[in-house]
Amino acid sequence: MGDREELEIFLEYLKQNQGCDLTVYKHSTLQRRLGVRMRQIGVNTYHSYIDYFKHHSEELSILLDTIFINFTGFFRDFDAWEYLANQVIPKIISRKKPHEPIRIWSASCASGEEAYTLALLFAEALGIEQYLQQVQIYATDVDEAALRQARQHCYTISEVAGVPPAFLDKYFESTSQGYVFNPTLRRRVIFARHNLLEDAPISKLDLLVCRNTLMYFNPEAQVKILIRFHFALKNLGFIFLGKAETLVSRSFLFTPVSIKHRIFSKGAKLESNDVLMLSNKPSQKNTDILIESKDLWQSAFETNPIAQLIVAPNNKLIGVNKSARNLLNMSANDLGNPLPTLPLVTQFGELNTQVEQTLQNRSSVSIKNAQWSTATRVYKLDIDIVPISDSNCRLLGATIIFKSVTN
Ligand SMILES: C[S@@+](CC[C@H](N)C(=O)[O-])C[C@H]1O[C@@H](n2cnc3c(N)ncnc32)[C@H](O)[C@@H]1O
Repeated sequence: MGDREELEIFLEYLKQNQGCDLTVYKHSTLQRRLGVRMRQIGVNTYHSYIDYFKHHSEELSILLDTIFINFTGFFRDFDAWEYLANQVIPKIISRKKPHEPIRIWSASCASGEEAYTLALLFAEALGIEQYLQQVQIYATDVDEAALRQARQHCYTISEVAGVPPAFLDKYFESTSQGYVFNPTLRRRVIFARHNLLEDAPISKLDLLVCRNTLMYFNPEAQVKILIRFHFALKNLGFIFLGKAETLVSRSFLFTPVSIKHRIFSKGAKLESNDVLMLSNKPSQKNTDILIESKDLWQSAFETNPIAQLIVAPNNKLIGVNKSARNLLNMSANDLGNPLPTLPLVTQFGELNTQVEQTLQNRSSVSIKNAQWSTATRVYKLDIDIVPISDSNCRLLGATIIFKSVTN
């Protein structure tokens, strides 16, 4: 049996017997981290690791500590935080009346440094009194041990190394235990356990920060989380991701604000300052911008270099972009036809069943190495079928993405 199959059996054991689903984490990362733990306890195979689990009830939490590396820091990637402080936070504040709440979620906050960085920057921008009135920061992580540390708001000298000295003076107290983050600001930060894949997201957010975490998940899980994040944000709310997170740049869910700093927004383009001053009642100008942004998404779909189809819940084709028309020899005349009647279904035998399953179960599936022949070429394609829903979780259909893996 290959390493991969053994790993899959081990992950299935964890899921069925330990109630812990790690199947959505990238296998390469898992293999590395599992290897570290297995070496520590002198176990050589996944099979013997399952035996070890059966005799050591505390092993799951030790393993999770090894897997969920909680590496974090105040102002981690300083330039990105500087951009957030100078360009994004003032915009969030300018949209609000002084009595309106500002809702922020630090999702996967590890030991709290990110959440306190947010508290500090909003306190700087608003002043402490106004901060206490307006700001609510929810800070969550799946790891209870990290949250316990976060709640203590006390850090060692090396842990506060990233805090600019002026802020260290102003917002931390140096004690014999370490540097204690300002308890008054701390009052507006609520810590709670939350699993990004299982628990309902926090809603009506002005800013969602989820950094250096999505990259641990496989693309399907990342898309699932990004769709949840999209629901969680208010229109024009901001999302701030980690440097290595790239999937969102390729999704149509968010509009880039600064790709370099991985800051995006939900909804309209953000070039004009007027857009950011949205009142409760949208003005004609704002409505135009929203319409314009709908056109923008349509044209982004149309010009995407990856071939893509969209089917409605009744399995009829409702979207086919230019790359799909070229690659799959389709035309606009195919629109409105049931998927099973389209010629491409005869070449991709299982496509129809897989799309039906996706629509029924609302979960993504992939078909690997499917063969597609044109008059001049044979292509190898990986086909991803991903369900799409609206903000009320109503199923809108499924998107079928054809990625060429031809050598
Ligand atoms: C590398 S840390 C990132 C911490 C912080 N966001 C930062 O960028 O500095 C990744 C965090 O993701 C958390 N995590 C992993 N899987 C998670 C899940 N399914 N739901 C919520 N948090 C998760 C881990 O516990 C860990 O604290």
